Amino acid sequence: MTLSTALLHKLPPNLAHRAALSALKYKLVPQFRAEHDCLKTNIFGLSFSNPLGLSAGFDKDAQAIGGLLKLGFAFVEAGTVTPEPQPGNPRPNLFRLAEDQALINWLGIPSQGLEVFARRLESLPSNMPGVVGANIGANTGSENIAHDIAKCARRLAPLTQYLAVNVSCPNTPGLLEWQTPEGIQRILTSTKEACANSSRMPAVLVKLSPDIRAEKLETILGVLTEAEVDGLILSNTTTSRPTKLRSSRSNEIGGLSGPPLAGLSIKLLRLVRKMTNGSLPIISSGGIASVEEALARIRAGASLLQIYTSLVYQGPNLVKDMADGMARCLAANGLSSVSELVGREGT
Ligand SMILES: Cc1cc2nc3c(=O)[nH]c(=O)nc-3n(C[C@H](O)[C@H](O)[C@H](O)COP(=O)(O)O)c2cc1C
Repeated sequence: MTLSTALLHKLPPNLAHRAALSALKYKLVPQFRAEHDCLKTNIFGLSFSNPLGLSAGFDKDAQAIGGLLKLGFAFVEAGTVTPEPQPGNPRPNLFRLAEDQALINWLGIPSQGLEVFARRLESLPSNMPGVVGANIGANTGSENIAHDIAKCARRLAPLTQYLAVNVSCPNTPGLLEWQTPEGIQRILTSTKEACANSSRMPAVLVKLSPDIRAEKLETILGVLTEAEVDGLILSNTTTSRPTKLRSSRSNEIGGLSGPPLAGLSIKLLRLVRKMTNGSLPIISSGGIASVEEALARIRAGASLLQIYTSLVYQGPNLVKDMADGMARCLAANGLSSVSELVGREGT
């Protein structure tokens, strides 16, 4: 942990997050180069300088994309954004489980709303040194979640390189009920229609929950394949408590993230990879906190990786340290490109 990270951890979690985001917004962070030729990869028709991206939820209102790219991330997923501004759930809604290097959050998608988010994307320089995605969602209490998501898609399609449809946030009442074959079909149909006339067609990804029931999964994957979704993000946080947690905060309500989520996340990744015969590109998210875990996800079939909680615990050097470690491991194994490792588990 760096000194700045240790100091942030003296503050309550929501305040620490606000302080970190402000530093990133004003680019008061070091510039790291996390580039190695062997880590370059192309996926969804987009070029990534390495496989490491920032997960949704850290920069919900697209305030700090430039600062986050400075840390070495090849891509940043801003959001989740909702059509109308909303405050999210009352505090306390974010808890550190330091002994487990984990977080539990019950934020409930606070958002400054679609218009503010879109204007910030419009003001980004055209030569951003990374890929920018937007995670799109629905307002709490929305009567038509598909309509909300399509509204975000229509406004943001020309401004982003990919859209991630969030049907897996456990903290928005009613949202997970849309994580059914019928629900996802309706959402994707309206999302694709919303993007159809856009000057730019972004890749459309869907982010799933690790708590999805296995018996539903195969049908959902069928719907996603038929709808020609470009890829999946596996996974969001879990409401389960999958491993024995040491922290006294482990019984707080909300979604658990960090290393205790890793087992569930890689299990879902392996299952989806098997069920789809590797036909859908996958971004793995959930408990990636070390070079070993990052490479394990790639071997299990992930083309790209996303990080949130380990950034909170390990600080701004994390992306560079991980990229350097991954490059060293590839070289030691005689591999010239990270894409050679995708899905190579057990071979
Ligand atoms: C405080 C917090 C807020 C989050 N907000 C969102 C969100 O708005 N939308 C979303 O799709 N995922 C959200 N997530 C989930 C993360 O994007 C990520 O999928 C999850 O935390 C697992 O990755 P990690 O173990 O590296 O943190 C949030 C996670 C945390 C910890």
